[in-house]
Amino acid sequence: MGSVLVLYHSQEYGNTAAMARAIGEGAESAGADVTLINTNEHRFDPEQYRDFDAVAFGSPDYWSYIAGGLKVFLDDWYIARKSNRRGMENKPYGLFYSHGGGGDVRGPLEELFGRMGSPVGATIESYGRPDHTVLAACHELGRRLADAARSV
Ligand SMILES: Cc1cc2nc3c(=O)[nH]c(=O)nc-3n(C[C@H](O)[C@H](O)[C@H](O)COP(=O)(O)O)c2cc1C
Repeated sequence: MGSVLVLYHSQEYGNTAAMARAIGEGAESAGADVTLINTNEHRFDPEQYRDFDAVAFGSPDYWSYIAGGLKVFLDDWYIARKSNRRGMENKPYGLFYSHGGGGDVRGPLEELFGRMGSPVGATIESYGRPDHTVLAACHELGRRLADAARSV
C-alpha cells in the first residue's frame, strides 16, 4: 500500500496547506496511506519520519528562505539521523512552495531537501492561492509519490 507523509508549513492564508491537501488527495486516490502535518501547528517528531515510504515537503517563501517550522524539522532530522540512520535516508520526495510574487525560496528548498533521497517530479510553485493548474500538478505529485511509496 505505501505510506506518504506531507510535511509543510502554512500560516498566513492557507495557500501552502491547500497545495498539501491536493497532494494528500492525489496520494490517497492512488491507494497510499497519507499523513498531513503542518509544522505551524506542532513540531513533528523526527523518529516518526522513519515510518514513511515517501514524503512531500512544502513551505511558503519567507524572506527567500523556508519557513522556520520546516527548518526545525530539518535540524531535528539531522540530529536524529546521527544516532540511527535506519529509515531516515533515501526516500522518494516531492517539493512545493507558495510565494507572494517575489523571493527565491526555490533555491534553498531544493538544496536543503536534496539530501532526503530521490526527487519525484519537478518542484511545484504557486503565486498566492493555488489555482486549478497548480492543484492538478499537486494531485499528480501525490499520485506519483504513492506509486513510488508502493515500490520502496
Ligand atoms: C514573514 C513573511 C515573509 C515573507 N517573505 C516573502 C518573500 O520574501 N517573497 C515572497 O514572494 N513572499 C513572501 N511572503 C508571502 C508568503 O510567501 C505567501 O503569502 C505565502 O503564500 C503564504 O503561505 P501560507 O498561506 O501557506 O502561509 C512572506 C510572508 C511572510 C509572513
